Amino acid sequence: MAPNKGDNVVVSNMKLERMLSMKGGKGEASYANNSQAQALHAKSMLHLLEETLDGVQLNSAEIPFVVADLGCSCGNNTIYIVDVIIKHMIKRYEALDHHHPPPEFSAFFSDLPSNDFNTLFQLLPPLANDGGSMEECLAADTHRSYFAAGVPGSFYKRLFPAKSIDVFYSAFSLHWLSQVPECVLDKRSAAYNKGRVFIHGANEITAKAYKKQFQMDLAGFLTSRSKEMKRGGSMFLVCLGRTSLDPTDQGGAGLLFGTHFQDAWDDLIQEGLISSEKRDNFNIPVYAPSLQDFKEVVEAVGSFSINKLEIFKGGSPLVVNQPDDQAEVGRALANSCRSVAGVLVDAHLGDQLSEELFSRIESRATSQAKELLEKLQFFHIVASLSFA
Ligand SMILES: C[S@@+](CC[C@H](N)C(=O)[O-])C[C@H]1O[C@@H](n2cnc3c(N)ncnc32)[C@H](O)[C@@H]1O
Repeated sequence: MAPNKGDNVVVSNMKLERMLSMKGGKGEASYANNSQAQALHAKSMLHLLEETLDGVQLNSAEIPFVVADLGCSCGNNTIYIVDVIIKHMIKRYEALDHHHPPPEFSAFFSDLPSNDFNTLFQLLPPLANDGGSMEECLAADTHRSYFAAGVPGSFYKRLFPAKSIDVFYSAFSLHWLSQVPECVLDKRSAAYNKGRVFIHGANEITAKAYKKQFQMDLAGFLTSRSKEMKRGGSMFLVCLGRTSLDPTDQGGAGLLFGTHFQDAWDDLIQEGLISSEKRDNFNIPVYAPSLQDFKEVVEAVGSFSINKLEIFKGGSPLVVNQPDDQAEVGRALANSCRSVAGVLVDAHLGDQLSEELFSRIESRATSQAKELLEKLQFFHIVASLSFA
């Protein structure tokens, strides 16, 4: 039976894949309204995505070309990117043979079952194939030139039939672990993350447990994709990364979840609103890998060759209209944190205490606005992989 919100359960140890999602809907703290930074970071990497697409094998035009976005979430970013991918592939087909139409395209939008697919589907432009040609589809920018479907499930397991996908894309998702390692929440374990809600600044044993979980998860991801990808297909992956070799220094993710977010939990304890045990039972299931952490797994799985694997400076996760307006910066940080971690916090604390927590984050971030804008920078691991 699903627990009630705020029940005294260790949320992070439950089957995360049944509950993790970004904040759905179109409200102030929704992912749809707080993912402009991801959009900007993705746009700054388009040249790398296009390089990957240039390496994809073109098949006969009778065979549909299939794209899958894994961890699509519920905002416009996924729709924008799928459109870029398909338009690029159409151009490649046209350059090959002007006399024959390109194949039909289909796109799978995949995420965990708790994702707000309804909001996503409502954002999809209508299909432009009512008897029209592909040229007409392309000319009509307000329409889509591909068939669309949603696929619920964890990308750490199989999602598609064997040899069915030409291009896999996944952005800002693979740093979400399939679970918080059990030892991290176990009082008797040396990896128990006492006093913290994230591994930034934690002890080495705790960080090792997170690293192990990340590497096991990534191996599951790659093994599943190796079965599902068509011969000649490619994959473009972007996830949060870190420049430091030390996993207890989580870089931008560390600043986001290890400072104001962490301090706000401590505020609730000091104000007598929650026990320290309640805080210690919560950990954010995020791990920002180093390039080496990532590379080790790709090499160990062995199914893919590396076209490109690099760390890319994405920039700030905060998009504000008036950088001098401290209140706007504080609100942006709280909303951005809430849009990605709010669902987990709501489930652990209940709506009312969760509200208290995010208002503490907002006021802390407001008073540190200038520093936040200067220091909060995200780096991403970018991987372009093809069948070995
Ligand atoms: C920050 S959002 C990224 C959304 C989108 N790709 C973008 O570029 O804006 C991360 C997404 O990863 C999804 N996710 C996390 N773990 C997942 C898993 N194991 N399987 C599938 N999706 C997962 C989350 O539900 C969430 O929608």
